[in-house]
Amino acid sequence: MKILVTGGCGFIGANFILYWHRMYHDDIIINVDLLTYAGNSENLSELNGVKNYEFVHADICDKQKMLNITNDVDVIVHFAAESHVDRSIHDPEPFIKANVIGTLSLLEAARKNKVKRFHHVSTDEVYGALPLNSPEKFTEKTAYAPRSPYAASKAASDHLVSAYFHTFKLPVTISNSSNNFGSFQFPEKIIPLFITNLLEEKKIPVYGDGLYVRDWIYVEDHCRAIDVVLQKGIIGETYLIGANNEVPNIVLAKKILSILGKDVSFIQYVQDRPGHDRRYAIDSRKIKKLGWKPCFSFDEALKLTTRWYSENPLWWKRLKH
Ligand SMILES: NC(=O)c1ccc[n+]([C@@H]2O[C@H](COP(=O)([O-])OP(=O)(O)OC[C@H]3O[C@@H](n4cnc5c(N)ncnc54)[C@H](O)[C@@H]3O)[C@@H](O)[C@H]2O)c1
Repeated sequence: MKILVTGGCGFIGANFILYWHRMYHDDIIINVDLLTYAGNSENLSELNGVKNYEFVHADICDKQKMLNITNDVDVIVHFAAESHVDRSIHDPEPFIKANVIGTLSLLEAARKNKVKRFHHVSTDEVYGALPLNSPEKFTEKTAYAPRSPYAASKAASDHLVSAYFHTFKLPVTISNSSNNFGSFQFPEKIIPLFITNLLEEKKIPVYGDGLYVRDWIYVEDHCRAIDVVLQKGIIGETYLIGANNEVPNIVLAKKILSILGKDVSFIQYVQDRPGHDRRYAIDSRKIKKLGWKPCFSFDEALKLTTRWYSENPLWWKRLKH
């Protein structure tokens, strides 16, 4: 099988390619990535010299290139995106370009080349925010209510993918996952930011009152979930992926402090982000019916992640300074 992965030099894409190569050794993997600030081809250095892996340096917005590249591809797994909410507040335009126009260009290529499966990787942020201390969770039936330019651009891309299924019968699936963490995550995101700041004896910035709740999933569990959707998911359907780890940011900060043997004097409360979503939580019963469940507990995965950043300072120091 020939699988095309977009954004494979980013955090989840790189983990997914390494996972796929481990699992399906004979598959041909094509990785299309523009290598923006978030893309790092070193993430896949263990595949150097592997004959059935190919890296293509390209922009997914380049329609002709996408058409050529997808010519004999069986499956597309689409990760490429601008992904950082704070950056989307500062400058929304690159998010519309990469996430909306880029997705459209890939969908067109997939349609023209009759690709057998287009899997779109999306986020729970398209559903907006939930109140604190409520039992409510996002489900596949929750109405879209994006609140940041990032979430709005991902929502638009989800709608386009869905429209290509209904209008052109393109065989699509969509997954909306909760917040990921693990190796190769760019150190602007909260977990690697906290870990690497502490490794450098710096304070960790906690927004507002610290009571923003995110539902965390270890990246390897997310990669396995996408695999399950590819194998067993129903065409045209959406699957929510979460590992039932609702954690307020302040609790997350204290867990990382404890793993690294530091005290709360390293916490620095900072001015809140505008439009900050209070809580995300995922009801993942639908994907669990396909036989998936997370393999890692939150605490175990947080320790593994902290260890990875401790052991790979050269990887993150260059990105941070
Ligand atoms: N990180 C999370 O917690 C999370 C949660 C749910 C969903 N997602 C989604 O998963 C996907 C991957 O997220 P991530 O955290 O790995 O992002 P990331 O920012 O680490 O990586 C994005 C990758 O896409 C590439 N890219 C960006 N624009 C491109 C373009 N125009 N053409 C080709 N490549 C381009 C970048 O170079 C980078 O390698 C995104 O679609 C994101 O919305 C992320």
